[in-house]
Amino acid sequence: MKQIIILLLPFLFTACMHKATDVTSPDGSTQVIFRLNEKGTPTYDVIKDGKAVLCACPMGFILQDGDLTEGFELNRTKKRSHDETWETVWGEERLIRNHYKELQVRLRHASGRKMDICFRVFDDGFAFRYLFPEKSDSIVIMREVTAYNFAQEPMVWSIPWRTEYYEALWAKTPMSATDTACSPITLEMADGTYAFMHEAALTDYPAQNFVFDGQEASTMLTPWQNGVAAYEVGPFATPWRFVILADNLPELMASRIMLNLNEPCKIEDTSWIKPMKFIGIWWGMHLQTMTWHAGPQHGATTENMKHYLQFAADNGIGGVLAEGWNLGWETWEHFDFTTPYPDWNMDELSRFADSLGVQIVGHNETGGNAADYEKELDTIYRYHAKHGIHVIKTGYVSPIIRTIDGLQYNRSQAGVRHYRKVIETAAKYHICIDNHEPVMPTGLQRTYPNLLTQEGVRGQEWNAWGTDGGSPCEHVTVLPFTRVMAGPVDYTPGVFNFANPVHPNTRVHATLANQLALFVVLYSPLQMACDLPENYALYPDMFAFIQHVPCDWEQSLLLDGKIGDYVVMARQERGTEDWFVGAVTDENSRDITLPLDFLKADANYEMTVYADGEDADWQTAPYSTKIYTRTVSALDTLTMYLASGGGCAIYMKRL
Ligand code: NOJ
Repeated sequence: MKQIIILLLPFLFTACMHKATDVTSPDGSTQVIFRLNEKGTPTYDVIKDGKAVLCACPMGFILQDGDLTEGFELNRTKKRSHDETWETVWGEERLIRNHYKELQVRLRHASGRKMDICFRVFDDGFAFRYLFPEKSDSIVIMREVTAYNFAQEPMVWSIPWRTEYYEALWAKTPMSATDTACSPITLEMADGTYAFMHEAALTDYPAQNFVFDGQEASTMLTPWQNGVAAYEVGPFATPWRFVILADNLPELMASRIMLNLNEPCKIEDTSWIKPMKFIGIWWGMHLQTMTWHAGPQHGATTENMKHYLQFAADNGIGGVLAEGWNLGWETWEHFDFTTPYPDWNMDELSRFADSLGVQIVGHNETGGNAADYEKELDTIYRYHAKHGIHVIKTGYVSPIIRTIDGLQYNRSQAGVRHYRKVIETAAKYHICIDNHEPVMPTGLQRTYPNLLTQEGVRGQEWNAWGTDGGSPCEHVTVLPFTRVMAGPVDYTPGVFNFANPVHPNTRVHATLANQLALFVVLYSPLQMACDLPENYALYPDMFAFIQHVPCDWEQSLLLDGKIGDYVVMARQERGTEDWFVGAVTDENSRDITLPLDFLKADANYEMTVYADGEDADWQTAPYSTKIYTRTVSALDTLTMYLASGGGCAIYMKRL
């Protein structure tokens, strides 16, 4: 008997090694199957609605001192399910349901090392992360070998991974022809369904990128300059890798997997964190009619700021940004974050802003010198808080930033650590952050809601000086399905004057109504109306929409859209029963049909429409608009005309 058992043991062990274990989403639609292959490589398959989506996708790592891509055995598995609804401090939704089933596998490598993989399967996608459960002084990761082997070749919306600051136009290519891309990517599958791939809870690890080979996408981590991907100390967990799987675009956009994968809020009292609209001494610098540095055209002067603050107060705008208020702009070599130029009186402005109930939005451009900034964070934030400044726009203009660990990519582990330090330190001083030249957002705002918004986009400023003439009309119809899926975006909508004094061949490819619609289409809890007060004064009736539109929402719905063609978003204001709709189109004019069945039944709304005029066209008649008001209910269906490069913004006030 003993002999039989001994003879059977290797067989049982092998059988156990290859045995699959699986986990299925709460609604049963999506199944993730985990197995070790014949080499002991961890792999997973994904099946949705009975169809294979991903097949035999390998997982693992190459460490400096070992190969963790094969030679594993399965030690144990653990399963659990979770269902909770949590309230956001601010967001596109007030309430978010976090409902998943989880499978955690404990693997033991031939070298003796343990590694866990935790899968979560939601009704709208799946996620996983690796955990190194053992205590260890040093784990040096050279490569993460995570792959996504698609059953059918998808089309991929992406930007190339070398894109400085993620500021590029998104392009659609077959996966096999896609260059190494930044995360996230959005996929159009051959069967008409969609996927979105990104990471969540990136706090102390390099940002991921994707390399493509045929139908396979695999992970490439942004390296340190010495080629190492990550330095870790055990125990530790990687960020989550997640894939949203959706039958259609409204479902894709409604997914909150990324936020759910982040840790709950770590800030106890969040009453000081408030979404708001702001204007700024900013667009003038990009148009080159003002300068950041002191001199005859200096933008950030006490007098000019007072004018902007008064305009904000008169028009219900919460804040005013001022760039170029502090020393250092002549050379960009050393910015001083606590010493204003002589023509900026911080005490006087702080008192004036306070008397008007308007906030000064601070600006800390580091020029990429993150190390110096990090060393002085407490002093800088104390200074700002003392002057009543509770929102700061940070900037890192330099493709490679100087971190406390030397020159590194801003998306490397060193950069990620810096950005997190900034957010955590700012929270201590009740300061919110608008991070420009960031690492791509990954939902950290759930944990630190003082991280209000980020750039990481080819924003409006490119329409002031882009040497290619400005972003094409379709750009804003791609962003909601790509970049903005990763989190709030400081795109800065709201140009009202399309003349460009210094670069006459570069311009905003939009109509006025399109610029208004962007306040709804491109989500940001800190939303900048970027044009100059005198330009807003040109079209006061259109400006009224900017005055009304909020930037914090009870719920958000994609009503219609096609990536790269058009987008129609509806959002209910948080705390009221009012709805706002924004629709934008590419260079093709079109009629959109808008059933109002999302409104509350048996209720009437006063609807004000800010639409393109009949002859509107972004090239020939961008200022042609039509504004009208009427009473509507959920039983109505509207037909809206969107001109070439046009749009439509609608305010529906509950009566
Ligand atoms: C680039 C930022 O995107 C822009 O908003 C800012 O004005 C400049 N850097 C200067 O900091």
